[in-house]
Amino acid sequence: MKILGVESSCDECAAAVVEDGRTIHSSVVSTQIPIHAVYAGVVPELASRKHTEWIYAVVHEALTGAGLGPGDIDGVAATSRPGLLGSLLVGLSFAKAFAWARNLPFIAVNHMLAHLYASRLENAPRIAHGGADAGLPASPPPYPFLGLLVSGGHSLICRVDDFDNITVLGTTIDDAVGEAFDKVSTYYGFGYPGGAVIDRLARKGDPYAFNFPLPNLRKGQHPYDVSYSGLKTAVINQLERFRRAGAGVKEDEGADIAASFQRTAVEILLRALFRAADDTGLRVIVAGGGVAANSFLRERLAARSDLRCVFPPLELCGDNGAMVAGIGFRYLARGETSPLTVSASARVEGFKRAYP
Ligand code: KG4
Ligand code: ZN
Repeated sequence: MKILGVESSCDECAAAVVEDGRTIHSSVVSTQIPIHAVYAGVVPELASRKHTEWIYAVVHEALTGAGLGPGDIDGVAATSRPGLLGSLLVGLSFAKAFAWARNLPFIAVNHMLAHLYASRLENAPRIAHGGADAGLPASPPPYPFLGLLVSGGHSLICRVDDFDNITVLGTTIDDAVGEAFDKVSTYYGFGYPGGAVIDRLARKGDPYAFNFPLPNLRKGQHPYDVSYSGLKTAVINQLERFRRAGAGVKEDEGADIAASFQRTAVEILLRALFRAADDTGLRVIVAGGGVAANSFLRERLAARSDLRCVFPPLELCGDNGAMVAGIGFRYLARGETSPLTVSASARVEGFKRAYP
């Protein structure tokens, strides 16, 4: 079954064709980063306009790149939630119209579940670290496992029992981890989006040059929750100190800031994640979302030889249509479809939580 997947929840206009939830025939991601970079953040109105301009060409390229025509597609999937409403509506409406015109089954999917599904796709060998199969291309890990979903809008540590069945064990009580990367980068003028820029800059810096605080979550808050606003404020306050000293931020100081911030941001995540792994006994961790591309996070997880950590290939960490087509197949194979009346939703409906 060849599924067309369409993704337009934020600033990537993407489409892909994936067969049987596994084999990627094509994946086209058209990024709007240069358009939003001048504003140091995604401008929702501009994003939806660009999606409107690009969506036809992106889907067309996904089909021709796979050597297929519309008549070769067996089903259509699109992200319907969560994301920027105007952006979501473009991809969702296009995908619904495609399905209607070709009389194909249609499924609307949750963006976060799609991110978690990305590592089950086959195009490049997945990176698996630790455990008995260290270094070998891994087959998709059996359920259940621990999920680490880290993006610009979410930071979730969850128990994953199936592709559509997750229970949130911990989440951020304030900013998402990707958001913290982006904000720190904006304040320091490192560039946009911040994640990849800080990751690169940090390689030249000393991760122990600055000792930023780890959050001290109050008693009663859950042990797997994380917080990023304190770290973000501490890093920004350091910028004020540089400014007061008069000289601004020198190049090596910038690299030290990036490395020290990144080390702390990753430690915050891992402290909660490792605690969850120990308490649940789940020894397999599957990561997804833009921050799963972070090289320091990958290194730190690789160092834990007692855990098997599975990451999507870099090109499938950020937003893409392949993860949407992949998870869409799973629903369609189970006989589930969405009505064409389904609409977009900016927020994700609450996932099951392990605690109140
Ligand atoms: O999943 P994604 O593409 O979009 C959302 O669903 O939010 O994630 C985007 C986020 C941004 O905050 C970006 O700065 C971050 O992922 N990101 C990274 C890296 N690459 C992208 N964060 C840390 N290290 C990276 N290498
Ligand atoms: Zn995303």
